[in-house]
Amino acid sequence: MKFEIAPNVYWVGKIDWELKKFHGEEYSTHRGSSYNSYLVKDQKIALIDTVWAPFAREFVENLRSEIDLDSIDYVIANHAEMDHSGALPELMRAIPDKPVFCTANGVKSLKGHYHQDWDFRVVKTGDKLDLGTKELVFVEAPMLHWPDSMMDYLTGDAILFSNDAFGQHYATEHMFNDLVVQSELFEEAIKYYANILTPFSPLVTRKIAEVVGLGLPLNMICPSHGIIWRKDPLQIVQQYQEWAADYQENQVTIIYDTMWNGTRRLAEAMAKGVSSGDRDITVKVFNIARSDINDVVTEIFKSKGILLGSPTINRGILAAMATLMEMMTGLKFKKKKAAAFGCYGWSGESVKVLGDGLEKAGFEIVQEPFKTLWEPEDDALNAAMEFGRGFAEKIK
Ligand code: FEO
Repeated sequence: MKFEIAPNVYWVGKIDWELKKFHGEEYSTHRGSSYNSYLVKDQKIALIDTVWAPFAREFVENLRSEIDLDSIDYVIANHAEMDHSGALPELMRAIPDKPVFCTANGVKSLKGHYHQDWDFRVVKTGDKLDLGTKELVFVEAPMLHWPDSMMDYLTGDAILFSNDAFGQHYATEHMFNDLVVQSELFEEAIKYYANILTPFSPLVTRKIAEVVGLGLPLNMICPSHGIIWRKDPLQIVQQYQEWAADYQENQVTIIYDTMWNGTRRLAEAMAKGVSSGDRDITVKVFNIARSDINDVVTEIFKSKGILLGSPTINRGILAAMATLMEMMTGLKFKKKKAAAFGCYGWSGESVKVLGDGLEKAGFEIVQEPFKTLWEPEDDALNAAMEFGRGFAEKIK
């Protein structure tokens, strides 16, 4: 399958409808994904990125049915992560002498993955590849999101091939932003940003300023996952600028784990308290053990503040909560407020563990933790409501 996205510029990737987990089991992809590869035909022909290894043979066969592989002059590897480079070995077996353009870190990663001495051509920001009537201009994008990441700008058509940036894990046959359900698209785009790009937000801000500062026309942004931004492509750039600037909505997210429902009841009382303290606030409540962790991370990303609850077990917290805290620590959320709560039977260390974890993850603790011995009764539930109301006041 291929389709033309501009005169002589083709999408030649793979739509992966059945993908439900990405990065191993790390990232849930409820709507599947796509691995976008692009073929640019001019006097010279360039192939930009490939697809994930399970689809390597299908990818190369598909490409072979469209063009003589020997007619490809240049292979561009914007990013060595396997979802984009996985079909390179299969492709390079067919065209072993063709040059592979990537960053210096791309050479290290590609050699590290595939242990092949392809004809690597190292490029830096501003380097140009002459295709005849148009040029590909390379823009390094280190740590967006790997050290090797790179984008390419096609002159004439004014297309930015942005690799992972501006992508979404979103399988669709309607591969353009104006043809899909907008709420689905933005759900997947914000989830992708929250779960993958949050720790690199300062770099996102700087890179966007650098690219916008070039003053280049921009007709289209072609990421390596999900749809192509052709209608008002700058909308996703502006959206990234907002997300990178310590994004917050008027939301509190309450996340708990529970053994015998005591901590759940505290969480629900706190939710009532938060909304009674601020009627305009959105309050969302999740049992972390029964929720999709990436969806919860997205809700944390949108929140001004979070309340984390766990009962005490073995002087610590329940395992699903520990997993979430590990993920939050890595994501480096900024300017978010938090507090801890939980039930206990005889020792009650969970709230301290939660508080320490929240501080380590960069949250500002704005309330002393709330803990209650045994099953909460009316007094404890009323106090939990007050705790929620107080938290709503503190995040105003
Ligand atoms: Fe889509 Fe970083 O790979």
